[in-house]
Amino acid sequence: MTYAITGITGKVGGAMASSLLAARQRVRAVLRDARKGAAWEDRGCEIALADMNDAAALTGAFKGTDGVFILFPPIFDPAPGFPEASAIASSLRDALLAAQPAKVVCLSTIGAQATRPNLLTQLSIMEEVLGELPMPVTFLRPAWYVENCSWDVAAARDDGVIHSFLQPLDKPVPMVATADVGSVAAELIRETWSGRRVVELEGARRATPNDIAVTFSMILGRPVRMQAVPRETWEALFKSQGMKYPAPRMRMLDGFNAGWIAFEGGQAGSRKGTTTLHTVLEGLVAFAADSGVRDGIAAETNSRP
Ligand SMILES: NC(=O)c1ccc[n+]([C@@H]2O[C@H](COP(=O)([O-])OP(=O)(O)OC[C@H]3O[C@@H](n4cnc5c(N)ncnc54)[C@H](OP(=O)(O)O)[C@@H]3O)[C@@H](O)[C@H]2O)c1
Repeated sequence: MTYAITGITGKVGGAMASSLLAARQRVRAVLRDARKGAAWEDRGCEIALADMNDAAALTGAFKGTDGVFILFPPIFDPAPGFPEASAIASSLRDALLAAQPAKVVCLSTIGAQATRPNLLTQLSIMEEVLGELPMPVTFLRPAWYVENCSWDVAAARDDGVIHSFLQPLDKPVPMVATADVGSVAAELIRETWSGRRVVELEGARRATPNDIAVTFSMILGRPVRMQAVPRETWEALFKSQGMKYPAPRMRMLDGFNAGWIAFEGGQAGSRKGTTTLHTVLEGLVAFAADSGVRDGIAAETNSRP
């Protein structure tokens, strides 16, 4: 079996490809930057070059495969009406229709079913367009990534204070490690199903922002606390960081905080990963130490999707 993996140079795509290679499956690495291909070629992957906006290149990359994994590129500051997401969804639909892989697994998000416009609406658009495809399609909807805490490592380590947009600070949030998202995606693409299916995924335990501070504190061996960023300051803050259109991101955070961004099937209906909060944060701290991450990106904090 050969599986084409987009977003393979990112966290989820990389974890998924590693799981498939460990299971001795053939992987076609779909990349937009040829320089990043050598590492995957060395691991035995075929290489196909395609940008997500290039339907012709994507068609070639998807042809002759038993399954395609779609990683919709993260767009943090979309223009009003989400034209970037609509263009990518159309190009993917055209390519998948032309290439006719046997099945497709698309990475979506918790809350893709929400009807109020927010940053995640981009993945609702993707689900709407790709949900019409004639082949079996799975939408994998993971929770908030624990790896979003990579933005908080320097603040925790250097200041002992993390600024949180997830509020209140004692409210449990569904979160998941990207390693679990990748390994579940690798399992799903090897399954047989018909039509459109949705799989919701979170970690074994929900975590509050305060739990994150306590876990950083244990790992770093110093006191760390969370501090809520007042809602009325978000717009000016995001604009000062260079965002042109902060409203969708603010509405996404509102959705998590108010609970209207949630799993369609509730906590009981979601699949559970196994990687702990402690394991992920330990890895982020070690990575930051190796790569010399400094405070200063702390202003970004944990508000990215
Ligand atoms: N963060 C969260 O809490 C969360 C939760 C649920 C769902 N999600 C969704 O998860 C996805 C992000 O997954 P991730 O964290 O694994 O991503 P990531 O690590 O940020 O990697 C993004 C990948 O997309 C590729 N890419 C970006 N633009 C591209 C383009 N125009 N054409 C082709 N490839 C392109 C990148 O390639 P290069 O190496 O060339 O840049 C990279 O491989 C998004 O769809 C996001 O909405 C996120």
